[in-house]
Amino acid sequence: MAKITASVYTSHVPAIGAALDLGKDQEPYWQPVFAGYDYSKQWLKDNTPDVIFMVYNDHATAFSLDMIPTFAIGTAADFAPADEGFGPRPVPKVIGHPELASHIAHSVIEQDFDLCIVNKMDVDHGLTVPLSLMCGRQDPVHGAWPCPVIPFAVNVVQYPVPSGRRCFALGQAIRRAVQSFDADLKVQIWGTGGMSHQLQGARAGLINREWDNAWLDQMIADPRACSQVPHIDYVREAGSEGIELVMWLIARGAMADVTGGAKPTVKHRFFHVPASNTAVGHLILENT
Ligand code: DHB
Ligand code: FE
Repeated sequence: MAKITASVYTSHVPAIGAALDLGKDQEPYWQPVFAGYDYSKQWLKDNTPDVIFMVYNDHATAFSLDMIPTFAIGTAADFAPADEGFGPRPVPKVIGHPELASHIAHSVIEQDFDLCIVNKMDVDHGLTVPLSLMCGRQDPVHGAWPCPVIPFAVNVVQYPVPSGRRCFALGQAIRRAVQSFDADLKVQIWGTGGMSHQLQGARAGLINREWDNAWLDQMIADPRACSQVPHIDYVREAGSEGIELVMWLIARGAMADVTGGAKPTVKHRFFHVPASNTAVGHLILENT
């Protein structure tokens, strides 16, 4: 049967993708950001899964105010990098896993989570920047990401957005879905977005290191309590876009300890300010 081997968490700041694409990653401003992922790149090479289940948010790219799915699973054979205004990023297309994605859609909908099924979709920085951070630069034509990726988009852009509590329960449903897939696949679940940032309004530029790190401590040690944090706390403490962090609770909810297994091992933890106008957080948890 398939199993979830690890979870990876990372911010997805678009300027990080641009810095890598433009060859600026060794400049003094960006070098410390990328250095925080040196361990992770080697770890991913040593622990390449068969599939990555990528929890991310679309930023009004594939979806718009015309259509706002709360949770959307990508079941396509491949997903092209989206044009977000400056042309598509020069990165390889994302290969999907239609069989596992369809199985997860069936199982999770049967567990009473209403997913939107997406058979055609371009993917924006929310999905491609985490891949770039974890895999480094890849040739857009001759290169490839290390394995298939199932995109799982969460609406954290337009209210009403799902609660941390619901995201955490959804992670548990995804775990059951993966574990009932009849093939020996190693699956990693990645949660992306955050940490504290606010892109607009009077508090634009808000960063809150103390809150971010306290939230991370609790998310690792007591994810159930962390899942009870209400939206208003994210918005007040981590800025309007800090709400992206609820997506990390989907990945955390899929770890073994949540349903009685062993605590995960913290393989790597990194926090850095600033990257553009955002606090970058990153974590790798392994099921033992
Ligand atoms: C920015 C956009 C994001 O989606 C994000 O998560 C962080 C920063 C930005 O536009 O700077
Ligand atoms: Fe974002």
